[in-house]
Amino acid sequence: MMTLEEAKQKLATAHQEHVLAFYDELDAMAQAALLEQIAQTDFTVCENARHLGEAGARGAFSPLGAMQLNEIAEKEAIFREKGLEAIRAGKVGCVLLAGGMGTRLGSDNPKGMYDIGLTKHVYIFQRLIENLTDVVKEAGVTVPLFVMTSELNHDATVNFLKEQNYFGYDASKVKFFKQEMAVACDYDGKVFLEEKGRIATSPNGNAGWFTSLLKAGYGTLLEEAGIEWLNIFAVDNVLQRMADPVFTGACIDAGVESGAKVVKKAAPDEKVGVMCLEDGRPSIVEYYDLSKEMMDEKDAAGDPAYNFGVILNYLFRVDALNRIAKTPLTLHVVEKKIKHIDDAGNSVKPDAPNGCKFEQLVLDMIHEMESCLPFEVEREKEFAPIKNATGVDSVESARALCEKNGITL
Ligand code: UTP
Repeated sequence: MMTLEEAKQKLATAHQEHVLAFYDELDAMAQAALLEQIAQTDFTVCENARHLGEAGARGAFSPLGAMQLNEIAEKEAIFREKGLEAIRAGKVGCVLLAGGMGTRLGSDNPKGMYDIGLTKHVYIFQRLIENLTDVVKEAGVTVPLFVMTSELNHDATVNFLKEQNYFGYDASKVKFFKQEMAVACDYDGKVFLEEKGRIATSPNGNAGWFTSLLKAGYGTLLEEAGIEWLNIFAVDNVLQRMADPVFTGACIDAGVESGAKVVKKAAPDEKVGVMCLEDGRPSIVEYYDLSKEMMDEKDAAGDPAYNFGVILNYLFRVDALNRIAKTPLTLHVVEKKIKHIDDAGNSVKPDAPNGCKFEQLVLDMIHEMESCLPFEVEREKEFAPIKNATGVDSVESARALCEKNGITL
């Protein structure tokens, strides 16, 4: 356990002495907890706050063609068989990324607990598990499901799913693990205090999932169970299709290390990350990095060359994940509203961004892959994200899409 002297030294080196400002006011237990947090915290990331807004150096982009709906329709039977074979052999697992804060939706509960039902309960978690259950029925085996939570929503998530009896899913196949947290700081790199005895932290982005899965000890389970593929997906898409036999079969058939479900862009300037090559390797170009020239570029068929947006549904080969897990992913600086206490100990709930959080991004994982298959899916059938309470990508728009797909709410 770290002593007060050691903590002072660590903080002095990191220029974070203010962390102990209220130390004397804390009871013994809170003091010990704070010292433990100081011992565990990596303050070096705060140096990145100064680089906020500076675009990270990107390589040279070039188009990466997607496997499109017509080609998929032609080969669907072959892909489905290959995918089902892998699923039946226990080679495919799913990872639900549910460690986010869902700040835009504005509910205090984990996003998956949000009820989109109108005449009955239809929780987001329920929608996802229902879709996965379709695959279980087709394949005749239960697909292992890993659920990533964070420090902030772990207990609520675990308790809810237990209470709901995992919506009929085989509980022995559901495993939870927590993602790591990163500190939150002001623009000068000084960490915020969340309370007098606690440094403000937040989940470290959705790309740390594999390292966190290994840290939780599930590496052995993957090996023993012979899981060769992991399908990660976002909690907030209520039409999400995971462990999709056709997508899995297509990736196996193509011999790739990873695959990404993509949808055709609604407009050339749609705010979505687009699959591409960067210095010859698979990557994702964010909409704000997509130049006018790239937007206008055409492929051999005369269609836009950067035309397929990612929907946070990726398939990764586990051997490739193990290879890249050896090198830590970059922590990107993102500007956010951060609740904290001020120098006088009063709580502050900012209305506008007031500092930085640090996140690992999936695009960096994709970029480490030798190959990636962009696999087109129909937007109206598979993409109904809930990001906001109203308007674009909201509960309302997701409900409308569910209804279009014959889902009773
Ligand atoms: P978003 O980027 O939409 O973030 O996450 P969010 O935290 O859910 O919502 P806002 O931005 O605060 O409103 C996309 C997916 O990645 C997961 C989310 O749970 C969601 O499934 N995620 C995000 C994590 O698992 N961990 C993170 O640290 C961030």
